[in-house]
Amino acid sequence: VSKEVTLMKQAHHFASEYYHHLLLHTEEGENALNYLEERGFSKEIIEKYKIGWSLPSWEALTTLLERKGMDLQEIEKTGLIIRKENELKYFDRFRGRIMFPVYDESGSVIAFSGRILQKSDEDAKYLNSPESPIFQKSQVLYNLDKARLEIRKHQNIVVFEGFLDVIAASKAGITNGVATMGTALTSQHIIKINRLTSNVTLCYDGDKAGMEAAKRAAGSLQAQHIQTEIAIIPDAMDPDDYIKTYGEDAFRTKIIEKPHSYLSFMMIVSKRDKNFNNENDTLQYIQEILEILSERTSTVERDLYVRQLSQETNVSEEAINQHLRKLQGNKA
Ligand code: GTP
Ligand code: MN
Ligand code: MN
Ligand code: MN
Ligand code: MN
Repeated sequence: VSKEVTLMKQAHHFASEYYHHLLLHTEEGENALNYLEERGFSKEIIEKYKIGWSLPSWEALTTLLERKGMDLQEIEKTGLIIRKENELKYFDRFRGRIMFPVYDESGSVIAFSGRILQKSDEDAKYLNSPESPIFQKSQVLYNLDKARLEIRKHQNIVVFEGFLDVIAASKAGITNGVATMGTALTSQHIIKINRLTSNVTLCYDGDKAGMEAAKRAAGSLQAQHIQTEIAIIPDAMDPDDYIKTYGEDAFRTKIIEKPHSYLSFMMIVSKRDKNFNNENDTLQYIQEILEILSERTSTVERDLYVRQLSQETNVSEEAINQHLRKLQGNKA
């Protein structure tokens, strides 16, 4: 490991301790602490994930790093501090945000995500560290350091859309959860997953964007021969919202332990915006599902779903089967 990388990680470790201290032990951190408590974060969770608070100041962290004699020019490469234009001066990237450290697989802090306290038109809800020598978004799965053993033990990993959902789920005893840092699931993420288990449960937000993202993620996973099931959150909620509304037990027993197969998930999602009194909608629905079904080799599976499609749409099984054979013929 190079000297630069070591220094970058040291600076992040130091910053995470500093932010964590500000949240828990200073007056300036009180609003943020109240916010977190209102959202149901216990002291235990705040400790476990080393959640913190950055002061609404331009130089609080920069000054401390400087006083420790740390090489600001190197640290600037991680985006933790930013260089002023045409000057040899630096300022803090994260100001007035709730700080979530991002850890690599061996437990070093390599980045941060900072959440604003209140909705705002000017500022993004989350501000993340930029890509750097120690942080590549396409590689990092939030919480993998803490979840690794649990994933191996359960031979299953739950992938969430947001890292706050990972934290909320861990309160509900789902300790094998990870999240990407606001990106799609990449092939590098999938390689990391595949080393630990070949069973994935996707648990993305229940809104349209989340369902679309889940579709794409499921496609990428299945292309790598990973057994993929999808847990669906109702009413466009996300896992965190669901747990708050219905409780931890309901989340475990009704959502995580009752995931859908890819086909069943696709049927549910595709049906959402369709009306079977409308001929076009009906045709489109049948077409979408048959396209997936035509890739399957099991005749039992095909039989089962053709019957279900027929019952749902009132189109005869015979006609659906005929269409299916045509789709398969096109591929052969
Ligand atoms: P809360 O609103 O605090 O409950 O967060 P959430 O986890 O529900 O976030 P959301 O569903 O809006 O987004 C899911 C993930 O997308 C987050 O965990 C982030 O990684 C990413 N994301 C969301 N908003 C932003 C943003 O404004 N900027 C960046 N960089 N990423 C974002
Ligand atoms: Mn366990
Ligand atoms: Mn969302
Ligand atoms: Mn969400
Ligand atoms: Mn949320």
